[in-house]
Amino acid sequence: MFYDLIEKRRSIRRFTDEPVAQGQIEKLAEAVLRAPSSRGFNPWQFVFVTDRRLLEQLSKAKPHGSSFLAGAPLGVVVCGNPEISDVWVEDTAIASVFLHLAAESLGLGSCWIQIRKRRHTEEASSESYVADLLQIPAPLRVESIIAIGSPAESKPSHPPEALQREKVHLQRYGHPFDRNGAR
Ligand SMILES: Cc1cc2nc3c(=O)[nH]c(=O)nc-3n(C[C@H](O)[C@H](O)[C@H](O)COP(=O)(O)O)c2cc1C
Repeated sequence: MFYDLIEKRRSIRRFTDEPVAQGQIEKLAEAVLRAPSSRGFNPWQFVFVTDRRLLEQLSKAKPHGSSFLAGAPLGVVVCGNPEISDVWVEDTAIASVFLHLAAESLGLGSCWIQIRKRRHTEEASSESYVADLLQIPAPLRVESIIAIGSPAESKPSHPPEALQREKVHLQRYGHPFDRNGAR
């Protein structure tokens, strides 16, 4: 099942108007809370946003790559606490991927929106824009927003021949990995 899921998975940026059902929202919340984290410190916090006005405002977090959030019925803002873990970036990235895959598994589409290290304007970071909007307190940092909804676009799987097998090495870097060699 996992392989079917990762084979089908694509980033979906167009959604129908259908709201994400409460039961599905609960499943998504369970998925993130089951994500692994370094030393089990769970330094994350998640803000589930379904309010249309807030989603529209969040869609302006950066000039490019976030506008489609205005058309999503759900956005999950993934935050991390650097005072709890020095590897909060990794932990929040893993939680973000859990959300992306859990959404796929529920028949929903989703797409990661990068917030950390992005700018809202020259003066304001995307992180400060999102934190101000949602009253996210210091010292929390904002890693990503995952836009989620019923897909209004379908994308083909990445075909096996498109996978960059040369990026997988066997025993030592530069030694080709192939199906017969992986022992
Ligand atoms: C760390 C990370 C940041 C991303 N940031 C954005 C983003 O800000 N906006 C966006 O539209 N897509 C974003 N994406 C989605 C990628 O563009 C997408 O995964 C990539 O183009 C490959 O397409 P696929 O997911 O359909 O295979 C991000 C993905 C990752 C993993």
